[in-house]
Amino acid sequence: MIMEKNLNVQNIEKTDSLFAVITGASMGLGKCFALELSKRKINTILVSLPGEDIHRVAEECRKYGVESLYIETDLTQKENILSFTDWLNENFNVNILINNVGTGGTAVFHKTSLKYIENILHLNIITPSMITHQLLPNLMRQDSSYILNVSSIASFSPMGFKTVYPASKKFIQYFARGLHQELKNTSVFVSVVHPGPMITNEETRVRIGQYGIFGRLGLLTPEGVAAKSITELFKRNPYIVPGLFTKLQWIVMMLIPVKFKLPILARLLNKEIRLGFHRD
Ligand SMILES: NC(=O)c1ccc[n+]([C@@H]2O[C@H](COP(=O)([O-])OP(=O)(O)OC[C@H]3O[C@@H](n4cnc5c(N)ncnc54)[C@H](OP(=O)(O)O)[C@@H]3O)[C@@H](O)[C@H]2O)c1
Repeated sequence: MIMEKNLNVQNIEKTDSLFAVITGASMGLGKCFALELSKRKINTILVSLPGEDIHRVAEECRKYGVESLYIETDLTQKENILSFTDWLNENFNVNILINNVGTGGTAVFHKTSLKYIENILHLNIITPSMITHQLLPNLMRQDSSYILNVSSIASFSPMGFKTVYPASKKFIQYFARGLHQELKNTSVFVSVVHPGPMITNEETRVRIGQYGIFGRLGLLTPEGVAAKSITELFKRNPYIVPGLFTKLQWIVMMLIPVKFKLPILARLLNKEIRLGFHRD
């Protein structure tokens, strides 16, 4: 590993090979995207925070006979995003970008910290927008490129006690749809995926678990969501909703007027707060 402008990066040789870049790839859905692409013989560059086990994910990817590199950096910092994308543009040809990194949680808005709000806004909105902006010239140079943005089923309704997260995921949906249209006559195809709940870490396991059988109804695996999303991305589907139950939830959410769904969702999420899920 070498340190380069706030990045822990591997000491690599410049290469002409094509790479997929995946943000937030040390665990959860991002890790599943990395493994799914590797199974499909696609080289990957993985990004996550320093000090986590991202090198192990890269090792797992290499078992499929592809190249897999990793970068450790904090993507909430603008200068890190610029160093990371400059480094990519100087050394690699990128033809797939997966804007996966994101964070959420349940919180009473006025009782949570500014840091918590800033973190969601940065990782879910600023980070994907900046990375996409900086990598687009590289993606446009390739014969055929793809950008997959990870939104959420949470973007289908505003939600009290989760106020910032669904709003940030609505941004990603609109960002992806707008960019899709804007890049229609280029080599870059843009899509967005709206996963339903998945158990990806300890917090999601406990939070989903408290809903009992209802929580498990239609629960998706991150492996399944990654596989379906990549298949649909390569079929050039611009709007991906994986899983039958999630599609049904989506339709129901569209049909119920906001004034009715808001109090129902707030009641459920307020229960999460009472059970101690409030994020500081
Ligand atoms: N889980 C769900 O139920 C669900 C449902 C719908 C949509 N989604 C969306 O799916 C995406 C992935 O969610 P997930 O549940 O798989 O997430 P996760 O398990 O919490 O993993 C988050 C990933 O992001 C990385 N990360 C976090 N903060 C970072 C930072 N400041 N800089 C660089 N990397 C950072 C983490 O790296 P470290 O390991 O280094 O911390 C990790 O690799 C998110 O956009 C989320 O909103 C999730």
